[in-house]
Amino acid sequence: MKKMNIAIDGPASAGKSTIAKKVAEQLGYIYLDTGAMYRTLTYAALSNEVDLQDEEALHTLLKGIRITFLTAGNEMQRVFLNDEDVTDSIRSEEVTQNVSLVSSFAKVREEMVARQKSIARSGGVVMDGRDIGTVVLPDAEVKIFMTATAEERALRRYKENIAKGMTTSLEELTEDMKRRDHLDSTRSVSPLKKAEDAIVLDSTHLEIDEVVKQILGIIEVRLNPL
Ligand code: DC
Repeated sequence: MKKMNIAIDGPASAGKSTIAKKVAEQLGYIYLDTGAMYRTLTYAALSNEVDLQDEEALHTLLKGIRITFLTAGNEMQRVFLNDEDVTDSIRSEEVTQNVSLVSSFAKVREEMVARQKSIARSGGVVMDGRDIGTVVLPDAEVKIFMTATAEERALRRYKENIAKGMTTSLEELTEDMKRRDHLDSTRSVSPLKKAEDAIVLDSTHLEIDEVVKQILGIIEVRLNPL
């Protein structure tokens, strides 16, 4: 049976990666976290003291690095920058604060999109990001646009931080969420935007497993139309 490609887009902390991982696992598909790719480039630029405003320098840096994923089972995925495991480093506050800028450049996006398209060439990929349904996989068989209010997404981040032993201010997290939403949806190249044929899922009042079930239901209908 032909393997489909599934695009999951939406703003930060809408639950995309947790959900996409579970959907991929259920289907035996590959999960690709495109946000992690932009984060890895941002981390590489910070480590190598590359000017984050310099599109050309960022593009050259990206051309020279490998970004790979290793699935370690149990929905665990490790991210590598060349041979360095950067899974935890790319979630640092410094990377989070700078990744919107790095991902706003056309040349950076062009190279990332080419890599992402090539991974999805044979199908069987669940990809999450901001421009998957619109730019990376416009022909994806299933497109989901996940949303949740900025307040709910900040609250989720707040709880995650507490679980990690970090204290943060909920007000600051809410403001930061809105700031990133604004940057991601107003940038000139491939802004965060719902594809016309995407199905909107608002996860504000839904549990993760419920959203996964809904997506699997949508896929099932695609596979076996009446
Ligand atoms: O999903 P995330 O928060 O890990 O994404 C990190 C940043 O990368 C986010 O600010 C938006 C950007 N991004 C993007 O521009 N395009 C994608 N396909 C994925 C992420």
